[in-house]
Amino acid sequence: MTFFTPDHRHEQVVFCADPASGLRAIIAIYSTALGPALGGTRFHPYASEEDALADVLHLSRAMAYKNAMAGLDLGGGKAVIWGDPAQDKSEALLRAYGRFVESLGGRYYTACDVGTYPVDMDVVARECRFVTGRSRENGGAGDSSVLTALGVFQGMRAAAEHRWGTPSLAGKRVGVAGVGKVGSGLVDHLIADGAEVVVTDVSPEAVRSVRAKHPAVDEVADTAALITSDIDVYAPCALGGALNDETVPVLRAAVVAGGANNQLAHPGVEKTLVDRGILYAPDYVVNAGGVIQVADEIRGFSMERARARAEKIFQTTAEILRRAADEDVPPSVAADRLAERRMSEVGRLATIRLGG
Ligand SMILES: NC(=O)c1ccc[n+]([C@@H]2O[C@H](COP(=O)([O-])OP(=O)(O)OC[C@H]3O[C@@H](n4cnc5c(N)ncnc54)[C@H](O)[C@@H]3O)[C@@H](O)[C@H]2O)c1
Repeated sequence: MTFFTPDHRHEQVVFCADPASGLRAIIAIYSTALGPALGGTRFHPYASEEDALADVLHLSRAMAYKNAMAGLDLGGGKAVIWGDPAQDKSEALLRAYGRFVESLGGRYYTACDVGTYPVDMDVVARECRFVTGRSRENGGAGDSSVLTALGVFQGMRAAAEHRWGTPSLAGKRVGVAGVGKVGSGLVDHLIADGAEVVVTDVSPEAVRSVRAKHPAVDEVADTAALITSDIDVYAPCALGGALNDETVPVLRAAVVAGGANNQLAHPGVEKTLVDRGILYAPDYVVNAGGVIQVADEIRGFSMERARARAEKIFQTTAEILRRAADEDVPPSVAADRLAERRMSEVGRLATIRLGG
C-alpha cells in the first residue's frame, strides 16, 4: 500500500500507538475543505495493518463526499482501531485514543462506527473535546441509526417518485436485507407508509424481533432469495458490496435504496444497474441521516433540528436522480460530481482573507 498515489488525496494520515493500553489506531483526514473532518471510529480485528490502512483511507474519503452532499460544514475523516472490541476495548485504550484525537486540535471530530458505541465516546470525551455520538445523558445525539433510518426512508420515497410518480411506498413490496438498527428502523417507516415488507437477516433474533413488532412482515431465508423474489424495492441494510456481479444481474427490484455503506462492489456496477433499468439511490446520499444526527451535537444537540435536516434527504435524492437523468449518467456519478463541486466551490471561500 502506497500512500502518495493519485488515488489517495488525503490531507493527513496519523498512526497512533500506545503499547501499554494496546492502542493501535489510524486516523485519516481526507479533506477539511468544508470544515473539520467528521467520521466515526471503527474498532475491528483487521487481518493486517495494510487492511486497516486501506479501510480507513476508503472510509474517510467516503465521509468527505457524504458530509459534502448532506450540506454540512464539515470535511471527511475516519479512524480505525486495530483490535477485537470484545477483548481489547478498555478505559485506558479509549482514553489514549482520545488524547490522539485531541492532539489534532479539532481538525478531526470522531463518532461511533462498527464496534464503538455512545458509551465509548463518553470515555473518549474524558480526554478530548472533539467527540460526537455521545450518550443522550451526556448531551449527545445517542444512537445515530434513528435518523439514518429516517433518511433512507426519505431517499426511498424520492426514488419511488422518480420511478413511479408518487413519493410513497404504499402498495410496493420492499425487501430489506439486514434488520439491525438501521434496517429495523426502516421497516417501521415502511409499515407506517403502507408498504409490504419482506426481510432477511443472518441473525434469527433480529428477524424475530421485527416480526414480533410487525406480524405482517414476511421473511425469506437469505439475501439471494430476497433479491430474486418479487420485490419492487431492494434495501441493502447489512454489509458493503451488496451490489455486485452476482447480485445485479438477478435482482428483480426496480429501485435500490438502502442504508449500507459502500453498496457498489466495484466501479462499473453502477453502469450495469443502469443497463438493467434499475434506479439506484446512492448509498451515501440516502444514509447521511446518522452523520447529520451526530454533527448536530457540535452546536449542542437538538433532535428536532437534526430531524428536520435529515428529512431533506428527500429533496437531495430527488435532485441527484433528476441530474443523473438530465446528464445521462448513473446516479452515483451525478452524486460524486455534486459533492466534488461543493467541496471545491465552498471550500475555496476559505482563501478569502478575513480581517483581524
Ligand atoms: N448506524 C448508522 O447510523 C449507520 C449510518 C450510515 C450507514 N450505516 C450502515 O448501515 C448498515 C447497517 O448498520 P446498522 O447500524 O444497522 O448495523 P447493525 O449491526 O445493527 O445491523 C446489521 C444487521 O445486518 C445483519 N447481517 C449481517 N450480515 C448479513 C447478511 N449477509 N445477510 C443479511 N443480514 C446480515 C446483522 O445480523 C445485523 O442484524 C452498515 O453497512 C452500516 O455501515 C449505518
